[in-house]
Amino acid sequence: MILQGKKIVLGITGSIAAYKAAFLCRALIKKGAEVQVVITPAGKEFITPVTLSALTRKPVVGEFFTANDGTWHSHVDMGLWADLMLIAPATASTIGKMANGIADNMLITSYLSMKAPVFIAPAMDLDMYAHPSTQNNLKKLKSYGNYIIEPSTGFLASALEGKGRMEEPEVIVQQIESFFKYQEQLSKKKILITAGPTYEKIDPVRYISNYSSGKMGFALANVCAERGAKVVLISGPVQQQAVHPNITRIDVESADEMHREAAHYFPETDIGILCAAVADYKPVMFSEKKLKRESENLSLNLVANHDIAATLGKMKKENQILVGFALETDNERDNAMIKLKKKNFDFIVLNSLNEKGAGFQTDTNKISIITVCGDKTDFPVKPKKEVAEDIVNTLKALID
Ligand code: PMT
Repeated sequence: MILQGKKIVLGITGSIAAYKAAFLCRALIKKGAEVQVVITPAGKEFITPVTLSALTRKPVVGEFFTANDGTWHSHVDMGLWADLMLIAPATASTIGKMANGIADNMLITSYLSMKAPVFIAPAMDLDMYAHPSTQNNLKKLKSYGNYIIEPSTGFLASALEGKGRMEEPEVIVQQIESFFKYQEQLSKKKILITAGPTYEKIDPVRYISNYSSGKMGFALANVCAERGAKVVLISGPVQQQAVHPNITRIDVESADEMHREAAHYFPETDIGILCAAVADYKPVMFSEKKLKRESENLSLNLVANHDIAATLGKMKKENQILVGFALETDNERDNAMIKLKKKNFDFIVLNSLNEKGAGFQTDTNKISIITVCGDKTDFPVKPKKEVAEDIVNTLKALID
């Protein structure tokens, strides 16, 4: 019973679908969850707090304080208490307030202080749902990392038919169960990920580097963290944000620094995923002063950097897994196979600069996964988050 003991804040707003919230409460409690209802003033017009508190065996929270005894209801405490917040039904008005931080009731303040993942099940008339304002607000909520439980299509309280019916309670419960299962998939694993480029300094103002943005590595870190792993993310200089609490980010600049940190953390991790585009060479000399333009030609003497993957490949113990990337422009499969063997990877993710939508900086990637036996699985072009899911699914199949 994945919901056993899970603490769920159930937000209820002023929609006719609020009557379904009673069934939702019941279904969550039957599965072992502890439910705390927070309701908007309009929500109370559609379902009585007495019904909900009888089901949850907890007083329903609807106001900032109870007028007769002056009890203050702390939305901050609720945000810290919950494992998940579910707002069902969510009206267009509540969705708009959530998207824009209009904290004029207890439900919105609870949402804004929520530390746990938030699921939103919209319920409204089809035209309200389709309106660009509602759609933009939902997009905003998605961009905040909230999950939308799409409404279904069918008969609406307005007597019209279309998309806007709140999803059925049993489907919502299934989605929440799947989410908790997903969150626990890698819960006992420690994963090291390298991401981004490295900078190899020439002088105080110049360096050698490449076009890596860090998007692919950060997508991997997020997916691993969302599946419950503790992630050490060693990143070269990038503009990406890692916000998940399971991610410890270590910023480095050069391949030497990345090598030192990776070798330090690898022994205590279960899995290494090496997505960084590490500069293979660095200048032999670093000039303390800016190099002057003195002649038509300038030669830079370069020396090979540490191969981080090869170092970790040598350190790898039997119970550890090492995944590498290969960024190729020609002879893709053969080159990837050589790297896989040389660096002792368990599988390699090949991306080719010949493929549209693949490689550096794009929000998408197109990969093939090649195993030690040489089996190759090709994936279509996808957003980097989905590519990361494919890579982690392959990893998961290897450790299960
Ligand atoms: O960051 P983005 O803009 O999202 O782009 C993503 C990406 C294209 C950088 C990523 O998908 C990718 O392909 N990363 C690996 C790039 C690379 O350096 O590939 P490679 O074929 O040169 O290296 C092979 C493997 O050895 C890689 O796992 C690399 O991290 C590792 N390596 C390479 C050199 C080195 N000195 N140390 C290493 O650990």
